Amino acid sequence: MNLGIDLGTSRVVIYDPAAGVVLDEPAVIAVARDDGHVIACGTEAEEMLGRTPDSILAVRPVQKGVIAEYELAEKLLRHCLQRVCSNRIAKPCVAVSVAEKVTDVEQRSFIEAVVSAGARRVTLVPETVAAAIGAGIDVSLPLGQMIVNAGGGTVDASVLSLRGEAVFSSIRVAGSAMDDAIIRYLRARHGLIISETTAERLKIRIGCALPEDPELTAPAKGRDALTGLPRMVQMTSTELCEAISEPLQDMLDMVQRVLEITPPELAGDIINNGICLTGGLAQLRGLPELLARSTGVACHVADNPAQCVAIGAGKALQYASAFSAVYDLGNYTYRLSDNVTN
Ligand SMILES: Nc1ncnc2c1ncn2[C@@H]1O[C@H](COP(=O)(O)OP(=O)(O)OP(=O)(O)O)[C@@H](O)[C@H]1O
Ligand SMILES: [Mg+2]
Repeated sequence: MNLGIDLGTSRVVIYDPAAGVVLDEPAVIAVARDDGHVIACGTEAEEMLGRTPDSILAVRPVQKGVIAEYELAEKLLRHCLQRVCSNRIAKPCVAVSVAEKVTDVEQRSFIEAVVSAGARRVTLVPETVAAAIGAGIDVSLPLGQMIVNAGGGTVDASVLSLRGEAVFSSIRVAGSAMDDAIIRYLRARHGLIISETTAERLKIRIGCALPEDPELTAPAKGRDALTGLPRMVQMTSTELCEAISEPLQDMLDMVQRVLEITPPELAGDIINNGICLTGGLAQLRGLPELLARSTGVACHVADNPAQCVAIGAGKALQYASAFSAVYDLGNYTYRLSDNVTN
């Protein structure tokens, strides 16, 4: 059995090439503080965020694309793998996507978490390579293909050619940073304190990279910063656009830098093929238009952008020999770079 796993800052997605996407849930786990037993995972655990009593800890184990809480990431993966493999005896071969900028130690922590969660063999696939494969791009061609994968914790941009990344850059400013910016905006402009979950819901409902016409509106519910009492403010898409302008600009600057350092031959290919946008944040209204406007290159959103990475990781297993970071239970060998051996 083969599986592609995308354990992200926001969501965990598992793809089985034989059955399609078999799991797509928030990457959140709730455990008991005293003995660490798992109380809830995924959607159920996300609903507990910010609402738990002292005896329960609800957290996102991956932060900005990197495992921040190793034991909890392992427990979350184990729980997810058990759910999708419950009626199978053989341990799965797993391809996991990882953010490109992670260190060897961080790579190993991903591998170990997946192995101890029950995988037989683990292959690491760079996130933008997986995103490109999942978006249906043939990454084996000697053609420059630009992918921008915008998630919860990171935005990655690469120019791929011949299965490798010719140019790559990443910033740890993405969907969650926009949620934080929305929280700061409401506090400063409306004296209202809102939760991260409320901020994310506002971004999804009325967030936009370019002003919407006609304007969209949605209520923001929170606590008054002065009186401490519950209060509601009607928010508009124009305000949301202003609230997220800084993280958006950081993202545009990063994509522009990647284009500036792309070799001319590949840049020519990108003009022909355009930029492919993947990741959950690709669904932000107006983002492809804004990206196209600021780069002068056409930009399109992949089908099913939020699941592309897991789908591509699962499909990448057929090219597994092309990826260097492989762990095989049969011989206990890490084939990462030289400073990580076991
Ligand atoms: N319709 C939407 N409009 C705007 N943003 C959205 C929408 N749907 C999801 N998002 C945002 O996309 C982000 C999650 O994207 P994704 O699932 O690709 O992240 P991830 O893979 O978990 O994170 P990372 O790759 O950074 O570790 C979240 O910030 C979420 O709020
Ligand atoms: Mg991701």
